[in-house]
Amino acid sequence: MTSSAQPGPVPPSPPVARTHRLVVLVSGAGSNLAALLDAHTDPAFGARVVGVVADRPGIAALDRARDAGVPTAVVALRDFPDRTTWDHALTEAVGVFSPDTVVLAGFMKLVGASFLGRFGGRTVNTHPALLPSFPGAHGVRDALAYGVKVSGCSVIVVDDGVDAGPVVAQESVPVADDDDEETLHERIKVVERRLLVDVVGRIARDGLTVEGRRARLG
Ligand code: GRF
Repeated sequence: MTSSAQPGPVPPSPPVARTHRLVVLVSGAGSNLAALLDAHTDPAFGARVVGVVADRPGIAALDRARDAGVPTAVVALRDFPDRTTWDHALTEAVGVFSPDTVVLAGFMKLVGASFLGRFGGRTVNTHPALLPSFPGAHGVRDALAYGVKVSGCSVIVVDDGVDAGPVVAQESVPVADDDDEETLHERIKVVERRLLVDVVGRIARDGLTVEGRRARLG
């Protein structure tokens, strides 16, 4: 009796996960960027920072990016005749890196219509207060001045308002009686970095869905 082995169907190759591309926008110290750069070295994180874009030269965040070998670009408002032209240039500079998600990590400018037309719905911002309370550039100062006992941080989807987009995640931080702006902000930033890394990783691995005001991970 003879038997001949019949070749079976070739099993499909396991899907190769494409790395989720992050572009991070910065204006200052870049500690949130540093947290993302720490996280992205782990393949399990699921995302890589492929570019960093700043609105000003000479900031520590740019040094952190260069030290990590991540390409950078600077698009300074003062180099353009108006905000619309600057917003176009910013959009192009970010677009060069073909991001899946754009992260505003201490980026102190409002993005405009051109930027949102291309990256709207996939741009997130981190803010050092529990939105919708205390939006704007001085969230920590404003929360202290109001006298709140609990503040915190928020990761939101960027829309055309000032820190007004759908909330993706928030975490609270108690305010101490002897806090000043600096001490409270530093404590918030510890929580903020962890929250931002967690949210960005989950967006990369599980996705982000936005329906009206409701943003959902996964
Ligand atoms: C963060 O607290 C961010 O929410 C706020 O500015 C701070 C930036 O910190 N807008 P860093 O530049 O990431 O250290």
